[in-house]
Amino acid sequence: MRLPQRAAPSLARALASARKRAAIGEDANSGLRSAPVFEWLRRAVETHSDPIEQRPPRHLTWSSRLLLIASVAVPMLLFAVAAWQNYRLVKIQAEQRVRIETRELEEHALRALETYSLVLAWIDGRIFGLDWDSIEYDRRLRRLLSDIETLPQIGSVSIVDTLGHIRASEPPLVELPEKVFAHDAFVAQESRDAGVFVGRTPAHHPTAVSFEISRRRSTADGSFDGVIIVSARPDYFSDFFSTVSAEKNFSASLVRRDGALLVRYPPLPGPFVFNADQPIMKAIAAELDHGLFWGRGATDGIERLLGYRHLAGYPLYIVFGIPTGGVLASWRANLVDYLVFAVPASLGLFCMTLFAVRQLHQQKFASWRWRSTAQRLQGEMDRRIKAEADLHQAQKMEALGQLTGSVSHDFNNMLTVLQGCLELLSGRQHDQKLQARVEMALATIKRGEKLTRHLLAFARRQPLEVTRVRVNDLLRRMHELLVQTLGSDISTASELAPDLWPVNADDAQLELVVINLAINARDAMPTGGELRVRTYNTTILPGQLLEEDMREGGDFVVLEIADTGSGMPPDVAARAFEPFFTSKPPGKGTGLGLSIVYGFARQSGGWTTIRSEVGHGTSVTIFLPRSREPDESND
Ligand SMILES: Nc1ncnc2c1ncn2[C@@H]1O[C@H](COP(=O)(O)OP(=O)(O)OP(=O)(O)O)[C@@H](O)[C@H]1O
Ligand SMILES: [Mg+2]
Repeated sequence: MRLPQRAAPSLARALASARKRAAIGEDANSGLRSAPVFEWLRRAVETHSDPIEQRPPRHLTWSSRLLLIASVAVPMLLFAVAAWQNYRLVKIQAEQRVRIETRELEEHALRALETYSLVLAWIDGRIFGLDWDSIEYDRRLRRLLSDIETLPQIGSVSIVDTLGHIRASEPPLVELPEKVFAHDAFVAQESRDAGVFVGRTPAHHPTAVSFEISRRRSTADGSFDGVIIVSARPDYFSDFFSTVSAEKNFSASLVRRDGALLVRYPPLPGPFVFNADQPIMKAIAAELDHGLFWGRGATDGIERLLGYRHLAGYPLYIVFGIPTGGVLASWRANLVDYLVFAVPASLGLFCMTLFAVRQLHQQKFASWRWRSTAQRLQGEMDRRIKAEADLHQAQKMEALGQLTGSVSHDFNNMLTVLQGCLELLSGRQHDQKLQARVEMALATIKRGEKLTRHLLAFARRQPLEVTRVRVNDLLRRMHELLVQTLGSDISTASELAPDLWPVNADDAQLELVVINLAINARDAMPTGGELRVRTYNTTILPGQLLEEDMREGGDFVVLEIADTGSGMPPDVAARAFEPFFTSKPPGKGTGLGLSIVYGFARQSGGWTTIRSEVGHGTSVTIFLPRSREPDESND
């Protein structure tokens, strides 16, 4: 059977066909079971075009969320640091204030105590050597004591004899002589000279919430001769204490070293003595001269910052305290001031960050859209360029086919005429030499015929002996021949589908095709390698096919011959099917091997493709349509 010749497709048809080849060729191939050796080839083809970038997520990304959290957390942290700093500052300022006030109170108390000791010394000098009757009835002394009594810090002045009776007093006592022998101020001086002694007035005394300062009166020989006592006016101290600070709930006290509270502002209802466990006494025990501590007041239970100072030369302490609540209140007031600025500023910052993050998100999305559109356009352009290249190739092959076909056809006719003439001359030559020439010419004509047959095979004008061929059987028959052709350095592997469909083809031509491919593979593997032969069935869906005449799609038998050889660069692969294209040295190759494969596949109603990569190998795949004729052998 001779297949009809096909006219060259029009430009539009060829363009459509070439585009489809570009688009469908990948789909058809991806549906096929690829040999593992060429899996990398398929991946290389798939990864050729850049994948379209992933769409940015609709929700906020982690980095954006972190930014938003930071826009709230950072101002909060700054606020916390500022609050802490301010707390420390407020504390330091309060401590400074307490130190200053305590010192002021100390100075005031020292001045008063100086006055007491001066007064005592002066009275002592005035009555030195006088007997008790003189003291009791000395009018001038009375006047003097009365003048002294008018001093604001002095409540009363008394001169007490050795038995503890008050012998002179201002203001005068109602009942004289009163006994003061139980008073601290008297007892302390009785046994020894206690200097200027500060003692408490007994609780039952009318001026109980007060204290007394005494000085011993001695005779010329130094023996005990009574006591001069000045009682202090507590309001003199407490009035001053009340003016020393503007703090609410502050306290100021004059305390004796043994814990006796002599004066306090605000005043207490009765006498009070600090015991050794109380904070002030512990602080004094730890640091005698002066100190500062935070503690709860023993008298009113208010938490205070307390400062104390020892009054030099006296067993007395000034204690001043401001309530912790007041210190914290001013700190809290500062915090409110900060918040007035910080809250709107933080809110503003948060809103601005939110706005910026959303803008950024939108920009990202817009830029993604722009990039994906650009990528799609680029892909379209690439596909168009490839389709045009395929079209160009198809046109070239078609033109070459026509040219080759008509030239070789005419040339073959001429050779036939020449052969006829030479055959007439052959055997009629008496001259041996001439007969030899005729035979040589006939042999050359045979070679020329072989060449034209090859060219006609490419041009698809060669008459084919089409029969029903079982490709697997043909390959098995050729196995020995192939092994011989390839040589010992090249191993063979075959993977033949057991249920392979039969095809309609010229089996002699198919054998020639397989041999051509095997020779090409051998030449590409000079140092050895592997030749893989694979067959399988495939179904191409309608409209999926590449060529106009195969639009209906259908069942195809695929024969794939692959090697692990040197491979072809893209420019060689693009021209490999062209007749007379060879990369081999002159005399080694005619460049007709793959042209025959191409012509055979097309003339048999199928097509062929090449996949190749330099250094990795080449795979030639031939698609032949399934035979629809009923199986004669019925096997
Ligand atoms: N398996 C292959 N591996 C590498 N290159 C190949 C392979 N098959 C073909 N080629 C390249 O394609 C070119 C054309 O091959 P083709 O079979 O048509 O001609 P040829 O082998 O050069 O000569 P011949 O007519 O003797 O076959 C080769 O010269 C070679 O460069
Ligand atoms: Mg070849």
